[in-house]
Amino acid sequence: MNTIALFLLACAPFAASAADLANGQRLFASRCASCHAVGPSARAGFGPQLNAVIGRRAGSTPDFRYSTAMVKSGIVWNDKTLAAFLDAPGDLVPGTKMRFWGMSDAKQVGDLLAYLRSIPPAR
Ligand code: HEC
Repeated sequence: MNTIALFLLACAPFAASAADLANGQRLFASRCASCHAVGPSARAGFGPQLNAVIGRRAGSTPDFRYSTAMVKSGIVWNDKTLAAFLDAPGDLVPGTKMRFWGMSDAKQVGDLLAYLRSIPPAR
């Protein structure tokens, strides 16, 4: 194996994770950002802000009026519950206000979750 091939091989994992984050960011912008904000000045819009959503209790941001279904769901958002919610919001939380067709492609969901995980808490 020549030096260039070795170099490419060594960089591949980093290149892949960077691409996944970028893809996750793109997916968020096109599929979620019309209703959800992230970042230092994120506020509730059509949906609650999603800063540090992984590890958060469902229905717990103070400036959004959730459905009773979401508040009473008892869910803590993690990779598994988020993947299930994005696949079919109304199946995981019957009565949720989130109108979303669903996203079931494991690669897309993985990239999106990697992006959400990369967002720091706002305060
Ligand atoms: C058409 C608007 C809309 C779109 C598009 C949308 N959501 Fe939502 N989302 C909502 C609403 C409204 C709620 C509140 C649901 C409730 O109270 O039942 C919500 C709730 C959530 C929650 C629960 C948050 C919490 O504080 O408990 C998560 C997580 C979430 N959405 C993620 C996403 C992601 C990721 C996407 C993109 C793949 C997305 N949503 C796309 C409107 C939307």
